[in-house]
Amino acid sequence: MENDKISRYETLLKEIVPLIDGVDNWIGIEANVSAAIKSAFPEFFWVGFYNVKEDNLLLGPFQGEIACYKIKKGRGVCGTSFERDDTIVVPDVEQFPGHIACSSLSRSEIVVPVHDAFGHVIAVLDIDSTSLNAFNATDQYYLEKICIPVGRAIGLCCN
Ligand code: SME
Repeated sequence: MENDKISRYETLLKEIVPLIDGVDNWIGIEANVSAAIKSAFPEFFWVGFYNVKEDNLLLGPFQGEIACYKIKKGRGVCGTSFERDDTIVVPDVEQFPGHIACSSLSRSEIVVPVHDAFGHVIAVLDIDSTSLNAFNATDQYYLEKICIPVGRAIGLCCN
């Protein structure tokens, strides 16, 4: 199972740079990267981006059910990842103080900060699962790798 996950991430990783290379449209990049991740992992319940606007995160392109538009820095898993500038893996959302339940079906979550070329957090990638404990160090490793070229690309063209 873990080997299958690794091989799907390896394939996905190879797709990301050609998918976004030279693209001057950050909304399009976030949309296509969300779609590429969801297509590699159809079992993920929600895959998408929240973008930094001053002290808030604003909903960006995603694949999945409707979600909240605005999350304050430090609030929920996304806002905490933004504030700490660190990836957060939540095995059980009910155990995370302040978790924001956009859907009651969400059981576990991973949030990865996305940086521009200067190292500033400009967005977060949020992935939710309906299963408990769906994300581990493998997800963290590959999603952080994916977010490097994505952040560089959107940092060049986001407002
Ligand atoms: N659960 C997130 C909010 C975003 S939705 O899951 C799409 C959080 O606590 O930050």
